[in-house]
Amino acid sequence: MISTLVLAMTADGKIADGSRSPAKFSSPQDFRHLEKQVAQADAVLIGAGTLRIHGTTMRVLDPELIQARVQQGQAPQPIQIVCSRSGHLDPDLRFFRQPVPRWLLTTADVEGKEFDRVLQISNGQDIDWQRAWLELANLGIDRLCILGGSEIATALWEQDLIDEFHLTICPWVLGSAAAPTACDGRGLKMPHQLELINHQVIDQEIFLHYRRIIPRSTTIS
Ligand SMILES: NC(=O)c1ccc[n+]([C@@H]2O[C@H](COP(=O)([O-])OP(=O)(O)OC[C@H]3O[C@@H](n4cnc5c(N)ncnc54)[C@H](OP(=O)(O)O)[C@@H]3O)[C@@H](O)[C@H]2O)c1
Repeated sequence: MISTLVLAMTADGKIADGSRSPAKFSSPQDFRHLEKQVAQADAVLIGAGTLRIHGTTMRVLDPELIQARVQQGQAPQPIQIVCSRSGHLDPDLRFFRQPVPRWLLTTADVEGKEFDRVLQISNGQDIDWQRAWLELANLGIDRLCILGGSEIATALWEQDLIDEFHLTICPWVLGSAAAPTACDGRGLKMPHQLELINHQVIDQEIFLHYRRIIPRSTTIS
């Protein structure tokens, strides 16, 4: 399974402001870029925090992108997988009325009747991400698009489970030490080196596409 993190970031490295309100700094161009990444995925992973704040998830809207998926034998929409320790999400969120398949990835023993599938994969406290990745691959997910937010991205960087990273740099400065970034937490034990495989400047934004470099010692010859 290839997992790709897709985020937009301000010029001072923030993915939201200090009160974690929905980001308003990226352009329609970036929205379109995000939609394309979602359209390429079998499933999308989103943190419960992001979902609570935004109320909805990113789905494929462009009829041409939907048609391309169907022609390739994919479902019209990727599965939306919500990650939550508690498993508690307000059933009145607009997300539950969006026409998308919904899965819940959780540590909790919850019924999750608003979801098409509940994956309870726990290491006692957190999601057991390594086991979750194996399970998702076993369930036929080859391409996973990770939409954040910061807590989920941090957990996945820590677990070394991000293969590619699409980062849009937007021309804003937000400030605030409390504002989330693409990787918070206490610092990675093993910093990841990335290789830039594509970049594009469109109007005021820079679109970067990175691939994680696998350390030489762990490559299989
Ligand atoms: N600029 C961008 O591209 C971008 C993209 C996405 C989001 N954002 C921003 O990011 C902010 C939200 O990020 P966030 O860090 O607050 O929330 P988040 O990462 O979206 O979700 C956090 C929630 O995920 C669950 N969770 C986190 N770590 C877990 C783990 N290790 N195991 C199991 N469950 C875990 C918990 O859910 P429960 O509480 O349910 O237990 C936690 O409350 C918002 O401001 C949003 O606008 C920006």
